[in-house]
Amino acid sequence: MATTSDDLLNHMKEYHKSFQTVLNYGLKSRELRYKEDAIKTVHKLRLESCIDEVRVLSIGSGKGDVDLHFINALVYKYTAIHYTVVEPATGPLDEFKRLIESNQERWRGVKFSFHVQGINEYLEGGGTSDKYDVILACHSFYCFRNAGNTLRYLYDMLSKDGMLLIRVDTDGGWLKYLNYRNKFQLSRKHISGVEAKKLTYLQFPHGSIEILRNTNVVTVTKCFDKDSKNGNRMLDFFTEVFNFRNARPPDEVEECLRYFRDECCYVKADEILIDVVEEDIIIWKNGHT
Ligand SMILES: C[S@@+](CC[C@H](N)C(=O)[O-])C[C@H]1O[C@@H](n2cnc3c(N)ncnc32)[C@H](O)[C@@H]1O
Repeated sequence: MATTSDDLLNHMKEYHKSFQTVLNYGLKSRELRYKEDAIKTVHKLRLESCIDEVRVLSIGSGKGDVDLHFINALVYKYTAIHYTVVEPATGPLDEFKRLIESNQERWRGVKFSFHVQGINEYLEGGGTSDKYDVILACHSFYCFRNAGNTLRYLYDMLSKDGMLLIRVDTDGGWLKYLNYRNKFQLSRKHISGVEAKKLTYLQFPHGSIEILRNTNVVTVTKCFDKDSKNGNRMLDFFTEVFNFRNARPPDEVEECLRYFRDECCYVKADEILIDVVEEDIIIWKNGHT
């Protein structure tokens, strides 16, 4: 049986280095749509009950480079915003604080609060009684413990005109690999973004649900070079296993790499590529979109 030390999420520093490497090898292009989509989504917010300030909760912000698009869209429309961040990794939060400093003038109407903890710890510590107009969970759903209950708590924490946005991977080669990976003895099963979608339709039949879809491409050629530092970092992220090449039995590594390359990736101009399809699942509590 694998130990929990296999789980990349238990090695926060390495997790963030691996994530950064995947961004550098192509995933960063996803941000091209973020600005426009954040503007469109915030434009649709109708916070009748919003009196003095808009309350936002961001779960798993990392260093804030995704949040920045939402914050910019919010400050354009609202004068006072309370932006609460729940993120367990301190290194990325320090970078988020530097980002805030560099936007001091533009974000002068925003008050930030940081909770250095996981979402379930925040909820168990009394967070469920907090109210928010906007809740953002961009690629952090996979870290939720008891995803169904957590989604329900978050939905109940929304104000009556509020919006919950869950950004997850729902298709493409990477998801295919993660589903396959669940057949091995690992300390944590991957909860797929498809599960987030299923739970959403099941649990919130009265909310109105909007889906925004986007395909991103990552160049993973280096993952197949056992001596490449960046390749091994990316492999850890894609497999969600810390030090994948050495931590897992050699025959499993070989089988997984073969499946990853032959069934999940494709070749273009001598590079090996993988598709990462992400969707924003947006739930509007009062039913309008
Ligand atoms: C893939 S990154 C996404 C970062 C950013 N939101 C984005 O979309 O690029 C996942 C983030 O979730 C954070 N995280 C890990 N466990 C968490 C938990 N239990 N609760 C909330 N966030 C968590 C990680 O530290 C990381 O910053």
